[in-house]
Amino acid sequence: MIKIAVLGYGTVGSGVVEVIKTNGALINQRIGEELEIKYVLDLREFPGSPVEHLITHDFEEIIKDEEVKIVVEVMGGIEPAYTFVKRSLLAGKSVATSNKALVAKHGAELLSIAGERNLNFLFEASVGGGIPIIRPLTSSLTGDEVEEITGILNGTTNYMLSKMYYENADYDAVLKEAQEMGYAERDPSADVEGQDACRKIAILASLISGKCVDFEHIYTEGITEITTEDIGYAKALDMKIKLLASCKREDSQFGAIVAPHMIAKNHPLYNVEDVFNAIFVKGNMLGDAMFYGSGAGKLPTASAVVGDIVEAAKNPERSVMGTWSGETLELKEKSDTKKRFFVRVKGSEEALREELDKVFGTVRIVKLPELNSEFGFLTEVMSEGDYETGAKQFPQICHMIRVEA
Ligand code: HSE
Repeated sequence: MIKIAVLGYGTVGSGVVEVIKTNGALINQRIGEELEIKYVLDLREFPGSPVEHLITHDFEEIIKDEEVKIVVEVMGGIEPAYTFVKRSLLAGKSVATSNKALVAKHGAELLSIAGERNLNFLFEASVGGGIPIIRPLTSSLTGDEVEEITGILNGTTNYMLSKMYYENADYDAVLKEAQEMGYAERDPSADVEGQDACRKIAILASLISGKCVDFEHIYTEGITEITTEDIGYAKALDMKIKLLASCKREDSQFGAIVAPHMIAKNHPLYNVEDVFNAIFVKGNMLGDAMFYGSGAGKLPTASAVVGDIVEAAKNPERSVMGTWSGETLELKEKSDTKKRFFVRVKGSEEALREELDKVFGTVRIVKLPELNSEFGFLTEVMSEGDYETGAKQFPQICHMIRVEA
C-alpha cells in the first residue's frame, strides 16, 4: 500500500482525489500496489464530501507519519507550499506538485534535495496543465540539444484571445468566463499580465539549458494592451494574436520572452484556440515537435499530478528527474534578439512612408477601413534594439506587437 497526503483541496486538489477515485483500479495496476489517500490538508472542513474523514488542518501530522511516502502539493503560491515541500523531502517523502511559482523560484534547490536523497520531486502539471512536456524533455528528448521552445502556456489568455478574435467579445466578460470555468489564477492579473506564462517558460528554459533561468530576468508583457483594433489588424494581415512564451538559442546564447505576438497561418501555434495550450520544440537532431492539449482546468491538471504520483510510487528509491544547477543562466539581451514588428501609427501613410522605409526596411502597410486616423505597418526583420532606436524618431507610433515568423 502506498499512502499519500494531498496538501490543498481546491480546484486541483479535488481533481486529484477525483482522478484517483475514478481510475483507482487502473492506477493501482500500473503501480503494482494499492494507492491510498491518507490525508487531505486544508484550512476548511468539507462535510459531506468524499474527503470529509481525511481532512487534517495540521501539517505536522503528515510530516510525522512515516507511512506517508508521497506528498502532493496543490496549494499554489510560495508559502507555506515551499516550507511544506522542503520539509517533506527532508523527511524522506517524494513530492508531486502543480505549483509553477514554487518550481520556478525554488526548483533547483528542491530538485537537489530530492536527488541527494534518491527521492522524486516531480512537477509535470506545473507547465501546460495536462500536456506531457516536462517528462518528454527530461527523458524522451535527452539525446537532443533543444534549440527552441515556444509555447502558448496560458489557457486563460488563449481563451480570451480566441473569444476576442472569433466573437469580438468584451475583454472583461471573457476574463470572467475563464475565471468561472476554473482556468484563471486566484489573482487573474498573473494570467493577463503574463507572469503565469513567464514562470512556465522559466521552468522549461531551466530544463533545456541545465541552469537556473530566473523568471525575473525574462522580459514579460501580457495581453492587457491588446484591443479589438489590434485584432482587426491581425485579421487584415491573415494573422492571429497569441501570447507566446519563448526560449530560443540565438548565436549560442538563450534568449527568452513572454509577449503577445502576431503569428501567421503557417505557424504551428496558429490553430491553438480556447483553453488549449501547445508547446513547439525544436531539437538539433529531432527537428520540430509539437505538444498540444488541455492546458488548464481541474481534471487535465489533476491527471498530470496523478501521473507524477504513479511515477514516484513506481520509483521509491530512485530519482527519475533530470535537474538544473543553481547557477543562473545569463540570458541574451532583449535588444539583441531579432524579429519583425507590427506597428500602429497615428496620421497618414503618405506623409510617413518614405521615412519609415528608411528606418524599418521596406515596410508593408496595412489599413483598416474603419480607422481613418491611423495605419499599421510591418517592419523587416531587425533587432529589438534597432527597432526601439528607430521608433523613438516617430512620436506618432501608438502601439507595437511583435511578429513571430
Ligand atoms: N491560470 C493558468 C492558465 C492555469 O490559465 O493556464 C494553469 O496553470
